[in-house]
Amino acid sequence: MSEQNNPYGAPTTGHLWDDNLAELTNQPPKWWMIGLHASWILVLLYGIVYPMWPWFGGATQGLMGWTAIGEYKADVAAIQQVRSQYEDKLPGMSAAAILADSELSEYVVRSAKVLFGDNCAACHGGGGQGNPGYPNLVDDDWLYGGDIDTIVTTITNGRMGMMPAKAGVAMTEAEIDQLAAAVAKGEPTSTPLFMEKACFACHGMDGKGMHALGAPNLTDAIWRFGDGSVEAIKYTITHGVNDPSDPQTRNAVMPKFGGGKLSETDIKKLAVYVAKLGAN
Ligand code: HEC
Ligand code: HEC
Repeated sequence: MSEQNNPYGAPTTGHLWDDNLAELTNQPPKWWMIGLHASWILVLLYGIVYPMWPWFGGATQGLMGWTAIGEYKADVAAIQQVRSQYEDKLPGMSAAAILADSELSEYVVRSAKVLFGDNCAACHGGGGQGNPGYPNLVDDDWLYGGDIDTIVTTITNGRMGMMPAKAGVAMTEAEIDQLAAAVAKGEPTSTPLFMEKACFACHGMDGKGMHALGAPNLTDAIWRFGDGSVEAIKYTITHGVNDPSDPQTRNAVMPKFGGGKLSETDIKKLAVYVAKLGAN
């Protein structure tokens, strides 16, 4: 019986299982043995070339002197070198000059993204799209102006637009209602109250705002506060913006980043970044 299960006559251990299963002792195939030996030889070679074996005070160094931290440092140095050909130029240039240089401004836009995320995004949103109470920097609608020098000034000194509660003049509820209705329609000048109550003094004769004062355009249906509803507009007219005498006033403070908080170069970078946002 056992003969039939070992037709090649290979050597066996002499064991028989289940009456007729012989256990052969012939060699595994050659390719398999080569693989087996090649694998441990490779492990040894690796251990000679690269740091691997635990050793007193650390590990063996490896013939190549390779270390993970060394490779990382070399990579960083390579990046620094690429960056420095741009970074070295920035301190000596005005923000306007950087913006005008397409290669430099492209570099700045990419590198200032983190800077914007760290310093500005909490208020203006990650993409500069604004938040309730914080202006959108992506559209081309500006409180103070979107030219590069104005943006540098805004970031350096901060901003705090000021509108007195009830525009600082006597106003009845009915008059506030009438003004709010006209503003909500985007036609602030349609009521004579716009002139009588001195709104024009800051928002301009045509109601289109005044950059010097940060007074917004009231005709463009872009809203700083609330959603442009009559209620939100009434609130703004009633309590003003940043009016210290009215505890319910709307707050709108852009902090200053000059005076050591951010370097001049970082401010220039951010200004270019914002100018590019606005241009899109
Ligand atoms: C604490 C919140 C806050 C932070 C942080 C902040 N801003 Fe502002 N920013 C404001 C507010 C509020 C205004 C509007 C000020 C006003 O209405 O007078 C503003 C206005 C601006 C304007 C003027 C927009 C216009 O329409 O003229 C620019 C530009 C600007 N911010 C850029 C930045 C940049 C760049 C940073 C980061 C360095 C930043 N802001 C950080 C709150 C913030
Ligand atoms: C002393 C200047 C000044 C006067 C006078 C003034 N405003 Fe304003 N107004 C501002 C400024 C500045 C802002 C924006 C503040 C900011 O964004 O920080 C503003 C904001 C507003 C807003 C909010 C717009 C929005 O997008 O949400 C409305 C509405 C408004 N004013 C209506 C009026 C009306 C109506 C009058 C007249 C009764 C008036 N203002 C008088 C300076 C003024």
